[in-house]
Amino acid sequence: MNPARPHVLVSRAIFPEIIDRLAQHFDVEANQADELWPRDEFIRRLQGKQGVFTTGGERIDADVLKACPGLKICANMAVGYNNFDVPAMTAAGVLATNAPGVLTETTADMGFALLMAAARRVTESEHFLRAGKWDRWAYDMMIGQDVFGSTLGILGMGRIGQAVARRGALGFGMNVIYHNRSRLPEAEEAAVKARYVGKEELLQTADHLVLVVPYSAESHHSIGAAELALMKPTATLVNIARGGIVDDVALAKALRERRLAAAGLDVFEGEPRVHPDLLACSNVVLTPHIGSATVPTRKAMANLAVDNLIGYLTGGKPVTPLNPEVMG
Ligand code: GLV
Repeated sequence: MNPARPHVLVSRAIFPEIIDRLAQHFDVEANQADELWPRDEFIRRLQGKQGVFTTGGERIDADVLKACPGLKICANMAVGYNNFDVPAMTAAGVLATNAPGVLTETTADMGFALLMAAARRVTESEHFLRAGKWDRWAYDMMIGQDVFGSTLGILGMGRIGQAVARRGALGFGMNVIYHNRSRLPEAEEAAVKARYVGKEELLQTADHLVLVVPYSAESHHSIGAAELALMKPTATLVNIARGGIVDDVALAKALRERRLAAAGLDVFEGEPRVHPDLLACSNVVLTPHIGSATVPTRKAMANLAVDNLIGYLTGGKPVTPLNPEVMG
């Protein structure tokens, strides 16, 4: 190890060019074998490092920070950062960075892919066909719901929510309504052709509801049995935000009882495990948290995390700090 260079841990396998880029500036401990380190091993490897490249699943909290007093920055290769205890990081003087902006359109595309697949029963149809069950035409075979011209509800109206709204309004002629903690300025609402409504109206009116809120104690199970009961039985629900925002057991029950037509889920409570009740439902499209998974976007996310590490550890500025107050 070169003591003059900052030491950086990369917790999961990543594009080789990203390791090469980091190695130009840092002494790097990588994990290209992609071992899933138990937490105590992660902490042990983090000791003596000034920076860490995380991918969203590594919990950085007071215990980690106490065990790693030399740590200066944790750079998440994800826009969501619910794996970071930011107040604890701020108290410990550790900078947190995330990767916003670069995955907006890719994730909004995934939201639409799930919406279309759920509403038009695409994966269910494929399973039916592959199982050899398609032996005749029938007027109601795999009959679904319209997307074009319907009402699109969006819960959460940050960058990704707005990108979903644009697709709906401009591409699919949808009537777009949204609910958010705070209402967008009028010009921004007009740009995405979305109308602000209360949460109850959103749930009751949407033909398709897309969730794009960050995960927090406040958003935990913000779509549960009571909220699902307000939705139309013909509606579809799409979650491209975080597991835990939806109560998966309540959702599976609503889907099973056909109180909700269909769902498209890219994120799950306790992922990578998926609740068996959901696996048992035919009217849900399930994908393994791939919202940002295109080659250019994943490279852009990783490079942004590297920009943050280089910026902060080599005397410049990080690009997307979450707690800039620690920079003094
Ligand atoms: C993915 O879920 C992200 O937060 O970037």
